[in-house]
Amino acid sequence: MEIIRIPKIMQATAKGHLVRGRTIGFVPTMGALHDGHLSLVRRARQENDLTAVSIFVNPIQFSPAEDFQGYPRDIEVDTGKLLKEQVDILFMPDTKAMYPGGFLTHIEVEQISERLCGAFRPGHFRGVATVVAKLFHIVLPKRAYFGQKDYQQTRVIKRMTRDLDMDIEITVCPTVREKDGLAMSSRNAYLSAEQKRSAAVLFRCLSEAAASLESGIIRVQDITRGMQQILRDEPAITEVQYAGLFDPVTLGEIHEIGGDALLAIAVKMGDTRLIDNMLVMMKKER
Ligand code: PAJ
Repeated sequence: MEIIRIPKIMQATAKGHLVRGRTIGFVPTMGALHDGHLSLVRRARQENDLTAVSIFVNPIQFSPAEDFQGYPRDIEVDTGKLLKEQVDILFMPDTKAMYPGGFLTHIEVEQISERLCGAFRPGHFRGVATVVAKLFHIVLPKRAYFGQKDYQQTRVIKRMTRDLDMDIEITVCPTVREKDGLAMSSRNAYLSAEQKRSAAVLFRCLSEAAASLESGIIRVQDITRGMQQILRDEPAITEVQYAGLFDPVTLGEIHEIGGDALLAIAVKMGDTRLIDNMLVMMKKER
């Protein structure tokens, strides 16, 4: 595995592969890798000549009050995992290499960045879109892989590539979960054993809402109320930021049942923010 830290060298390496007709599959990450990340890596390996992974904890997607400084970092363990997955290139720039003095340019995907998590994390998706656009220009992938776990992020990235004519195929991979349903996340490392057990309530809440929808007897308000109740009944949850049924494309609220829908949740357990979601198909007549 080649480890590259300098953007210009990464870009020159990528160009070298491109002129030889090799496709690059790319998985951007912030490290503290778990099986969710590795599922994307495996998919990239299956579908491309070369696999590139980036590890970069991107300061501009964290607000000053968030966990940038304390974000879990374990480069030795991460490198071992990527070696085992036979990744070809690990791109690991430092902050100065990505944001040299005088950096002024940002990408803003309007509207969809403001909903759901965007309402609670102003500027977050602007930081994500900006770093992902930079990474795309540096790594030059044919395909890039993202997890459904961060559903809103996938919509922002897809819209950015479409609106800015980026010739990169975006693949969304299913959420990888623990046995009890808890979606794997680097931030789960912040949870105590007890909080981690309680966190399984997110998946239970989504599953129950999905089952109600599929049974076909429920109104949107009842689904939303039911979800909020399940979450409020869990003492480890200190704040429910949102929980309900949303349009999977616009991420706006859904008022009527029909077509596809996104069930999505964001809660806080003390200082730790947890999100999860599930896509459901609803029948029109109810
Ligand atoms: P990070 O949180 O490290 O996640 C990297 C990728 O792994 C994202 O596409 C995320 O959706 C995916 N992922 C995380 N948990 C997953 C799970 N349980 N199952 C499947 N996929 C999962 O998301 C980011 O980093 C950053 O915002 C980034 C895109 C790298 C930009 O800085």
